[in-house]
Order: sequence, then structure tokens, then C-alpha cells
Amino acid sequence: MNIAILPLSDDKKKAKCADESKLGFGRLFTDRMLLVEWKTGEGWVDGRIEPYGPFSLDPACSVFHYSQEIFEGLKAYKWADGTITLFRPEMNARRFNQSADRLCMPEVPEDIFIGGIEKLVSLERDWIPSSEGTSLYIRPTMIGVEPALGVKPADHYYFYVILSPVGAYYSAGFNPIKIMVEDNYVRSVPGGTGEAKTGGNYACSLKAGLEAKKKGYDQVLWLDGVHKRYVEEVGAMNMLFAYGKTIVTSPLTGTILNGVTRDSTLKLAASLGYTVEERLIDVNELMADVRSGKVTEAFGSGTAAVISPVGVLAYKGEDYMVGDGGVGAITRQLYDTLTGIQTGRLEDRFGWVRKI
Ligand code: COI
Repeated sequence: MNIAILPLSDDKKKAKCADESKLGFGRLFTDRMLLVEWKTGEGWVDGRIEPYGPFSLDPACSVFHYSQEIFEGLKAYKWADGTITLFRPEMNARRFNQSADRLCMPEVPEDIFIGGIEKLVSLERDWIPSSEGTSLYIRPTMIGVEPALGVKPADHYYFYVILSPVGAYYSAGFNPIKIMVEDNYVRSVPGGTGEAKTGGNYACSLKAGLEAKKKGYDQVLWLDGVHKRYVEEVGAMNMLFAYGKTIVTSPLTGTILNGVTRDSTLKLAASLGYTVEERLIDVNELMADVRSGKVTEAFGSGTAAVISPVGVLAYKGEDYMVGDGGVGAITRQLYDTLTGIQTGRLEDRFGWVRKI
């Protein structure tokens, strides 16, 4: 599709963050965004890159009432030699369309999803931060915009992409966080939308997250919605546990997100000589293994979270320290290797990096 580039006047240009160490996550947005519309009978039309700004939407739009919304998260990096890259965007494009299918939304072809992102990121290249731990976070989103209150798939959609220069997702940076196992609320059930990247999965997690925060924890670790027995994911990341040289994570059973960073971490771990196990993790066994020291490290993986060490797991009101509570050697090695490939310091032997 031909994507038009609309003019950006000087008064619409925003100030960049002078101190990249203060970026945080997702508060600052670049000057432009991509917008493409889909209409029944016409398909994808009107692709354009325009100045970043609010939409004017009818209050009856389906996204506001029945949550027809999906999104993705990926990152662009600026290497020391000025090369601009994306990390595994094909996987995001595929997952976006799996989410679209689950939410009865139209498929976005790769030339619009990846081609549009490449064009937008190229135009906004001056916004890509380059200091250690920073990147340009890319948020592709699709919403139903038909103004109609009947419950049905909309006949009109916006696919849009916004960009945000970011630092670490957690204010702790690359330092251990505290996670509470959630044994009251559930995030997803078999047959539900747990594996789709849709806003509802995050909205339904807010109450548990707030309650955990009040108790001093950063996030909750969800258990399966049927038995409340098997470990699933933390809303913003998948979870991995090191048992010495074996890395264990929950399998993709349809109720958790198929994380791009999860997949990359498992492949990296295998290439570094670790044994990788995707298997059901019984929470009682896990906590006993943390207590006895069999679990030597715990960490989360996600695009925003990258690889985040977990120092404490809490379950049924009790804190369990993982290892010595610090950043484990495997967690650090995987973080350094992954970010090394993403930022061009290490060779990409997997074909993950896409130069723009
Ligand atoms: C991502 O890692 O890209 C996500 O979408 C998680 C979100 C909670 C920030």
C-alpha cells in the first residue's frame, strides 16, 4: 500500500528528552503516527503518516463499548554506527493477526504492519535514544470505530502506530523486583482471550495489581484460571525459573501470551548450553523449590520488561527469597546476550535483527 506522508508543521514538533536516563516508560511520544483505515467492502484504505495527535471518535464506537481492541509492542534500536534496526517484527505481525482473528478484526498485511512501521521509524529516527538500556518502543494498535451499539464485529477499523522513546519498564531498572502469586483473581481461562494481546486482559488485571502494590509487590504472577494451581504469566511478561543449568517456563497452552522475548530467551538459553523445559509448573512445588534453593533464579521476559530479575516471590502471605535475592548470573548473561544482539554489540546468529 502507498502510505502518504502528511506535512508536519514546526509548531507540532515536540521537545525531545535531553536526559535519556529520565525517559521511563511510555510517557513521551514522537511527532508523527501511522494511521490506516479498514472499511467493509473496501479493505485497507487511506494509509498516512500524520502529526501525532488525538482522534475525534464517535462516543458510540465499538472500541468504547465492547473492547474491540488489540495491540503489539516491539522496539527499534539505534546502533553505535547509526544503523536503525527492528527486533523480530515478523513475530509481532503474526501475533497481531492471531489477536485480530480472536477479536473478529481484519488481518493487517505485513506490507502495512512492517512496511508502515519501517517508514514511520525512519522518519522519526532522531527520536531513537541510544544510551544503555534505552530504545524506541513501537505500539501498533487496532480499534473498532463503527458507531453502533449492537454487539457484532465493527465494519470500520483504525490500525495505528505510535512511538515512544523509553528506558526501563520498572522504576527499579535492572534490579530484582518483588512478585506476588495471585490466588484470588484470575486473568484467563481455556477458550478465553488469554493468548491474544487485547486491552481487556490488562484491564482485568488492574485490581489484582493495585492490591499487590499496596502490599509492596511490583506485579502479580497469575495462576491458571481453572485449578489456580499452575503458574502462567505476569501480565507484562512471561516468567522463567532457573533450576541450576535448566531453565523452566510455562507451556503455551492458549491462556498465556506467546512472548517474542520469551521465545528469543529460550532459543538463546539453549544456544548457551542450558536445558530448556516448557512444562506445567505447580505453584506449590515451585515455592518449595524456591525455599529449598533448587530454584536458583527467577526472571521475567517481555518487550517492555526485556529480562527482569525477580528477587522475591510471595505466596499466600509469605515471602520466598529467590537465591540470594540479587541478580543471578544466568539472568545477567541472558540480558547481556539479548540486548547485545538487539543493539549490535553481539553478532546475530539467529537472523532476528531487521535493518531499516
Ligand atoms: C510489551 O512488553 O510490549 C507489552 O505490551 C507489555 C505491556 C504491559 C507494557
